[in-house]
Amino acid sequence: CGIVGYIGELDSKEILLKGLEKLEYRGYDSAGIAVRNEDGVTVFKEKGRIADLRQAVENDVHAKTGIGHTRWATHGVPNQLNAHPHQSESGRYTLVHNGVIENYHLLQKEYLPGVEMKSDTDTEVIVQLIEKFSNDGMTTGEAFRHTLGLLHGSYAIALLDSEEAQTIYVAKNKSPLLVGLGDDFNVVASDAMAMLQVTDQYVELHDQEMVIVKKESVEIQKLDGEVVEREAYTAELDMSDIEKGTYPHYMLKEIDEQPAVMRKIIQAYQNEQGELEIDEAILTALNEADRMYIIAAGTSYHAGLVGKDYFEKIAGIPVEVHISSEFGYNMPLLSEKPLFMFITQSGETADSRQVLVKIKELGHPTLTVTNVQGSTLSREADHTLLLHAGPEIAVASTKAYTAQIAVLALTAAVAAKKSGRSVDFDIVQELGIVANAIQAMVDSKEEMEQIARDFLSTTRNAFFIGRNLDFCVSMEGALKLKEISYIQAEGFAGGELKHGTIALIEDGTPIFALATQKAVSLNIRGNVKEVVARGANPCIIAMEGMEEEGDTLVLPKVHPLLTPLVSVIPLQLISYYAALHRECDVDKPRNLAKSVTVE
Ligand code: G6P
Repeated sequence: CGIVGYIGELDSKEILLKGLEKLEYRGYDSAGIAVRNEDGVTVFKEKGRIADLRQAVENDVHAKTGIGHTRWATHGVPNQLNAHPHQSESGRYTLVHNGVIENYHLLQKEYLPGVEMKSDTDTEVIVQLIEKFSNDGMTTGEAFRHTLGLLHGSYAIALLDSEEAQTIYVAKNKSPLLVGLGDDFNVVASDAMAMLQVTDQYVELHDQEMVIVKKESVEIQKLDGEVVEREAYTAELDMSDIEKGTYPHYMLKEIDEQPAVMRKIIQAYQNEQGELEIDEAILTALNEADRMYIIAAGTSYHAGLVGKDYFEKIAGIPVEVHISSEFGYNMPLLSEKPLFMFITQSGETADSRQVLVKIKELGHPTLTVTNVQGSTLSREADHTLLLHAGPEIAVASTKAYTAQIAVLALTAAVAAKKSGRSVDFDIVQELGIVANAIQAMVDSKEEMEQIARDFLSTTRNAFFIGRNLDFCVSMEGALKLKEISYIQAEGFAGGELKHGTIALIEDGTPIFALATQKAVSLNIRGNVKEVVARGANPCIIAMEGMEEEGDTLVLPKVHPLLTPLVSVIPLQLISYYAALHRECDVDKPRNLAKSVTVE
């Protein structure tokens, strides 16, 4: 699920392949490029990794124009036939597409009855339609625009015309796409990281825009033909942020970065006097709301569950947390003055975006908490809070999760003060203590590796239990483990296991139990006893001051509300080592994508 394109003076092949490598982190199962030179357009595509595509690309083909794609299968299985680029019947048009065309069947029936499709994809319909309208007498630009007008759904598209060497046609609706500017060349990319190798100047594209990209010019048009002027911005990304350095995996690098991220967040939200500062408009929105609705997916949803406690306990704002793919199609009864908070690392998740679009239609205030400045959900919401975690490349989220929790804690504390509520701790000081505690945990890698060996080397399943905030972290711990090691794992409220799932406990079944919450420490210890009595192998992770003899791991003490920031670290590391021991592809787990831009 990524697109790149290049038009200029250099050999486009290598630039496209490098660009696709930078997009690998988003998750994909096949990849391809198409390049255009005097001999026409040549397509290379493969199932599997970019490395496989590299092997397939013929070195003696040179071309100054090209487009590339990584595909995460939606319509049609991942194979070479369904991989992009796709070509029209005569081979004149070549196209890559991210997104989902909902009405592709109808369009095919209505406009392309005699055309034999080569693939099972919705994408092929787009390229065949363009050729049909061009055969009917339209110019390529007209045929492209006319086709876009018929499409229902999401798309980011790059198109080559073999009869027109000097142009890449581009369009966007709901799926992310940028145009990058250079001297004597221009590029197209799903995100700036892909093309940072050649430029840091980018122009945002908005929905329902099409762009005519040439070597020396970029013209953005609305679908009705009106030309749009838009300034470029500088992508504030450092190449070192997106390189692995000496680390074997991005995930390990990102786990290690967490103490630094905590400190960066404190700095980023402090003014010159060292006082915490959050945009006044956000504080007003928070304090005017009678209820906040947190909307998110995956790991961000788990961070939202922790955030609920902060806004309720620290700031006194009632909160509901919802899974975005559920909320958009089954909205609960809303309060009178709701505020909507979207938590999304990438700022691109389609499930969350469809809710944002609906909420904007209803006219309610919106706030996005994201790691990516200028991302779609950030641009489209009224307000943004940034995570300052630096690019997260590994598919399994680690530092973005802790950054989300830290930013939510900090925001809740500032909002509480603003509304005159007393806060009986200094959040800056407490987050500093957390940073040190995380450091102690990431410095104990050998211990974590041993735990992974002891508890997970042969098991086919594992359970995570906790109560209150520990329950939220249990769900995240289980998600990490299943995402990257493929061990079936579930997170449960400690008391709930006995209401059904305990039937799955066998001799040696690993149970990870978190005990950081004083109010329920006796209860969770009781739950551990229940499963141990049925043969489970317990790994007990307790906070300092609450530990008991026989516990597996003791976490350094931090403020009771901030324990998720520390207790999740061993779970991330244990998952990492379990995946490594099973020889799984840690950074790019099967079937997963980093930013899921389809619903
Ligand atoms: C994908 C990723 C998850 C992530 C989720 C939400 O499924 O694989 O790691 O938590 O999307 O992503 P977001 O960018 O909205 O936080």
